[in-house]
Parts: sequence; C-alpha cells; structure tokens
Amino acid sequence: MEFKNIQAIVFDAYGTLLDISSIDQLLKELFGDKANDIGSLWRKKQLEYTWLRTLMGRYVHFDTVTLDALKFACRYNGVDLNEKMAETLMQAYDELSIFEDVSPALRKLMARYRLAVLSNANQKMLENSLKHNKVHSLFEQIISVEEALHFKPKPVVYRMAEQQLDLKRFEILFISSNTWDVAGAKSFGLKVVWGNRFNGQMEELSFEPDLIVADLEELAAHLILKEND
Ligand code: 2OP
Repeated sequence: MEFKNIQAIVFDAYGTLLDISSIDQLLKELFGDKANDIGSLWRKKQLEYTWLRTLMGRYVHFDTVTLDALKFACRYNGVDLNEKMAETLMQAYDELSIFEDVSPALRKLMARYRLAVLSNANQKMLENSLKHNKVHSLFEQIISVEEALHFKPKPVVYRMAEQQLDLKRFEILFISSNTWDVAGAKSFGLKVVWGNRFNGQMEELSFEPDLIVADLEELAAHLILKEND
C-alpha cells in the first residue's frame, strides 16, 4: 500500500481502541450463566439498531441505542433488567478499557501523523471513555456521528473525517477492527486498514482493506518501517 500521501490516521472506537470484553466480568456477576448470550446479543442488536435507525431516518444517540439493545438482549433471555442494573452497565460502558497496544502505538504514530477518532458513539460517551483511559489528549479531533444524525457505514459519516480534518480521502488512513466498517470506509474511498484483532473473516461486500494488521503496534511498526525505506 502507498503511504506517502497519508496525513492523518483516523480510528474507529469500539473494538478498535476500546475493548468491549472488559465488561464481561460485570456481565457474569449480573447474569451468571446467561452472561455470554446476553453479551453477544447486546452487541449484535446494538449494531443492528444503528443500521435500522439509519435506514429509517430515526437517529438517536448511541447511548440510547446501546441501552435499547441491552433491554432487548435481557428480555430475549428472560432476564428482568432493573434500573440499577441498567445504570451499572451503562456506566461500565463509559469506562471500557483500551487494548494494551493502543497507548504505546498512539504515542509513536502521533510523532508523524495527525490522529483522530471517528465513531458511532455520541460525543459525551466518546469523551468519557477516552478520558477514562487517559488517551483523550492524544487525538487532534474526536469526531462523533452525532452531527451527521446517521451512523456508519453511511457515506456522509466518513465524509465528516474529510471535512473536519480538511483533507482529501486519499490522505486519510482509517483503521477499524469491525469488518462492516472496513468495507464502508473503503466503499467511501478512504485508505483502510483492518485491525484484525480476533483472527476474523472479512465480509463478502467486494471491498477489501488496503492492509491487515493484528493490532495498532503492528500498524505503527509497518508505517514507521515504510517511512525509513
Ligand atoms: C464505532 O466506534 C461502533 O465500533 C463502532 O463507531
């Protein structure tokens, strides 16, 4: 892949920077042997609701989508979600940990590139999570879809990165661990890296990433080595 035009690296948040599995212990404490089923349905419904709401033209903030998906997952599994449990889980969602490689890699990359986040989360949620992990100040911009009133992978959302960074799409390298997001960003025309953290499988959507890495340290090593070529 050609890197010489790249000015900025733009990161997806959930699954790419933030480790959703850091909530698993709390799910176990609250839901016992139903924790895995509730956790996976929660994430699946959260994504589905972002796509459905985008198609319906009915945007609500990502924290509302996240809570609605949690309610569905609990009801589906025959669990009564009381207000206290919902509040505890939503608070934990604002305090997800970052993956271990994130902070060292960002510190290397920021010496050479402008760094930004582009996420489906609303601004408040994003700032809470990134501040909680003390990486907030490493980003020049934290871009939330909330101004677009649509979720990824609608093209207008990826365009926000171009507009807010004042760069052309070939000058932006977008990285996501979510395969649907990789395909969406590539379809829009960004340079795209798939952070394949979990040895996953790419979608059959006819859009392939420009580069695949296992984590952000590998991305930093790759970019810095290329520069020295
Ligand atoms: C994002 O941060 C939900 O991972 C997705 O946009």
